[in-house]
Amino acid sequence: MNMDVLVSLSKRRGFIFQSSEIYGGTGSCWDYGPLGVELKKNVKRVWWRDNVHRRSDMVGLDASILMHPLVWKASGHLDHFTDPMVDCKACQRRFRADKLDEQPWVHYCPATRGNRFEVPAGEPCKHCGARRTLCPECGKGELTPPRQFNLMFKTFMGPVEEDAAVTYLRPETAQGIFVNFDNVLQSMRLKLPFGVAQIGKAFRNEITPGNFIFRTREFEQMEIEFFVNPLDSIDGRPADEIWHDRWIEERFGWYQRYGLRRENLRIREHDKSELAHYAKRTVDIEYQFPMGWSELEGIANRTDFDLKQHAQWSGKSLTYFDEERKQHVIPYVIEPSAGADRSVLAFLADAYREEEVRGERRVVLRLHPELAPVKIAVLPLLKKRPEIVATAQDVLQTLSRRWVSVYDDTAAIGRLYRRQDEVGTPYCVTVDVQTVGDSARGETGDRCVTIRERDSMEQVRVPIAELPQVFDRLLGEGTWPEVARAYPPARG
Ligand code: GAP
Repeated sequence: MNMDVLVSLSKRRGFIFQSSEIYGGTGSCWDYGPLGVELKKNVKRVWWRDNVHRRSDMVGLDASILMHPLVWKASGHLDHFTDPMVDCKACQRRFRADKLDEQPWVHYCPATRGNRFEVPAGEPCKHCGARRTLCPECGKGELTPPRQFNLMFKTFMGPVEEDAAVTYLRPETAQGIFVNFDNVLQSMRLKLPFGVAQIGKAFRNEITPGNFIFRTREFEQMEIEFFVNPLDSIDGRPADEIWHDRWIEERFGWYQRYGLRRENLRIREHDKSELAHYAKRTVDIEYQFPMGWSELEGIANRTDFDLKQHAQWSGKSLTYFDEERKQHVIPYVIEPSAGADRSVLAFLADAYREEEVRGERRVVLRLHPELAPVKIAVLPLLKKRPEIVATAQDVLQTLSRRWVSVYDDTAAIGRLYRRQDEVGTPYCVTVDVQTVGDSARGETGDRCVTIRERDSMEQVRVPIAELPQVFDRLLGEGTWPEVARAYPPARG
C-alpha cells in the first residue's frame, strides 16, 4: 500500500486535508475533514471507553496545554528534549542527524559521469559503491556538524514578551498527569495500583516532520500513567514488571480488536543504549506503515522518576501511604503512550483494499464498524419517486437518532454503494419500488428494505419496523452472518 494513495483518498473523500492548503500548506500539520473527524473521534472514544469506563482501576483527566514552566525543568524536557540537527551548507535544508540514513539520498555518481541517482535509504550507490556523505536532498552540499535542537515550542504567558513570561506548549500530555497525581489520589480516594488516562494535543517542533500524519508538529496523544506500588510483588516478581507485561499485552490486543491485522503489528524491545535515562524498560508497538515498520505506541516503565522530580522541584510531597506497611512510597509508573493520529493512519492503511468485483475495481475501507465515520447510508433506488424518497427520509430520521447515518440520492445505486465502500460505511439501506408499492396501480408495498453489508456485499430484506433491533445487533455485539440468517436474501 502506497502512502500517496491514502493521502489522495483522504483528501478526495473528506478525511484529511493539508493544513492552510490555500496558502500553500504547512507540510507539518493536517486538518481532519468531515469524515476524518468522525474517524478520529471514534478512535479516541473506543480508547477512552476501553481504558477508562470499562476498567475499575482507571480514571480520566484533562489537563491544560500550557503549564508552569518549571514543569519542563523538572521533567527534563528543557535540558534533554532535543534532537541532533544538521544543516546543508548548499541548500540550507535541515535534517535530524540520527535519521539521515533512513531516507533515500541523491547522488551524482562519478562512475557514470556525474549522472544523478536517487539511492535507496541506507544503501551504497550500486555503480560506484559510495555511501552518502553529503546532503541527501540536493546531493551537493556538505552538512554542518550536529547540534542539539530543543523540540519544545516556546511562547509567552500574558501580554509581555519577556523572559519571565516564557512558557511552552506541552510536548506530551503525561506531565499533566504527574503534576495532578496528588489531586487525583486524594479526590478519588484511590488505592494502588491505579491509572490516569488523558487524551490531548501535544506539540513538537520536529526537525523533519513527514509521512502524512505520522510525524507532525501538532498531534494528539492518548496516554495512560499507571501507578504501581514498588514494594508489591505478584507471583514472586516485582509488581511494576508484571503490570508492564500486562499493559503490553492489553495494548497489542487492542489494536487487533479494532481491525489491525496481526501480521502488520510487532513488538520491539528498546535495547539498553536506546532507553531514556529514567526508563527501566520500554517496548514499542510497531505497525507496518506504508513507509515501513515504525512506532505506533510506546510502553515504558518510567519508575518513580517523574513523581520524584516534581516533588523535588515543587517542594510538595507526591507519595502514597501504604496502609499495610505503614509507610509512604513513591509509586512506579507504567506508561502506555499512543498517538491518536498515528492510530488513525494505521487503521486507514490497514482497512484500505482494492478488490475486483464482477470485472470492476472496487476500493473499500474495511474499517471496524465502531471506527467507521458513517454507520449507515440510506439510499433511495429511484429519486424521482416521491414515496421512495419520503420513506427513505423517514428511515434516515429513525436511524440517525441512534447512529451516524447519511442519505444520498445523487447517483445510480451501484455508484452509491461504491462511494460508501470507499469511506468504510459498514451498512447501506436501500428503499425501492417493492418497499412502497405503486399506489397508481393500487399496489401496496411490503414495507421492507434491503440491507447491504460492505465486506461480503451480501444483501437481505428486512422490515422497516425491525431496523432498530437489527442495527442494535449489527452495530453492537452481533455479527452479520448471525443477524442476516434470520432474513431472506434480497434480489439484485
Ligand atoms: N509520554 C511519552 C511520550 O510522549 P513518545 O514515544 O515521544 O512518548 C508517544 O510519544 C506517542 O505519541 C508515539 O508512539 C506516537 O504515536 C505519538 N507521537 C509522538 N510524536 C509524534 C509526532 N511528531 N507526530 C505524531 N505522533 C507523534
